[in-house]
Amino acid sequence: MYLFEPRFVNRVEEINALKTYCSSFRALPLYIYGPEGCGKTRLLKEFVKRFSEFFGEESIAIYIDALEERDIEHALLASVKWEGFFKLSLDAVKDFLQVGIPLGQALSRSISRLIDRIAKGFYKGSLRDKYILIVVDDIARAIGLNRVEWYVKWLYELMWKLAEEYRPKAINIIATTSEDTSRKLVGRHSYAGIELVWNLDKSAFKELFYELNPPGNVDFNSVWRLLGGNPRKLVELARRFNWSIEDMLVDYSRRLHSIVTSIAREGLLDKLELVLEDVDSLEKIRDKDMERLENILEDNNLILYKYTTTITGGEVAEDSEIGVGKYYAWQTPLYRIVLKNILDEI
Ligand SMILES: Nc1ncnc2c1ncn2[C@@H]1O[C@H](COP(=O)(O)OP(=O)(O)OP(=O)(O)O)[C@@H](O)[C@H]1O
Ligand SMILES: [Mg+2]
Repeated sequence: MYLFEPRFVNRVEEINALKTYCSSFRALPLYIYGPEGCGKTRLLKEFVKRFSEFFGEESIAIYIDALEERDIEHALLASVKWEGFFKLSLDAVKDFLQVGIPLGQALSRSISRLIDRIAKGFYKGSLRDKYILIVVDDIARAIGLNRVEWYVKWLYELMWKLAEEYRPKAINIIATTSEDTSRKLVGRHSYAGIELVWNLDKSAFKELFYELNPPGNVDFNSVWRLLGGNPRKLVELARRFNWSIEDMLVDYSRRLHSIVTSIAREGLLDKLELVLEDVDSLEKIRDKDMERLENILEDNNLILYKYTTTITGGEVAEDSEIGVGKYYAWQTPLYRIVLKNILDEI
């Protein structure tokens, strides 16, 4: 983790969309997915921080980092600065903690109790007519793919239970993941809405690029073609690789090498070549080998199915320069470039 996060850039449309979303009871939890490091967590935390600005002092938004193991200040963020909130929350999950369940998971499974404590502790037991939002971040990685379907169904039931019990103006729950596999699992059911958050667009990415003080010899367009708007990769290029694109490419070649080896062992290199040329080959060629390749690329978080509505209600535009097709996309063009380089060498 870095000592400080860069200034938050853009995401104006996404913040507005979230605002509209939270203004009424949506009946279904919203499951948000998108490329690793595209900024889901940052977006939702910024939204939670500004929740009272949008819905008034009496509104409540709570962010839970389901992956956090023990630090309550990392695991929880609330839109309201209540005195004693962390202590109250730890108390609400103490049964889980006593049996060794990590803090983030314990909180994710104790939403009802947490809301109850907040209501009693800070609002004399009544949450009537309030706007309430609960965000559970990174749930698939925290509880495991085998329990994701159960959890999202549980969220659905919880939303209704809380709505009936407290009669708020609007209560909504948003859960996130960057695992495409979990998106597929949840997508099989009708008890959650699924929407996409994508990497930054070119102008927002440019803003972040200059925010990170690049040296004069680093050209923005080359970085865009390499990273395709992924903010985490940009932060990595700046801070971990000290703006050396070459060092970054070498590092990722080593990281992805074993994936190419396993693709080769499965006899799928010819299919990989097709996907490197056109990522939508995954949609166009419908044989078993392509399906096996898709699973490998998805499991390794290299590609993502993107034929889904974004949270702003649109779709992610196709852009072959950065490996974004109509149905599938490389999570960042860096992966395509590195895989191509590895193939050229073997
Ligand atoms: N709009 C933004 N402005 C500035 N920095 C951003 C923005 N979005 C993301 N970042 C930075 O990029 C990095 C990755 O963002 P974040 O952790 O939110 O991604 P994520 O989609 O939640 O990733 P994961 O899939 O691993 O959960 C962080 O350092 C974050 O501060
Ligand atoms: Mg995240």
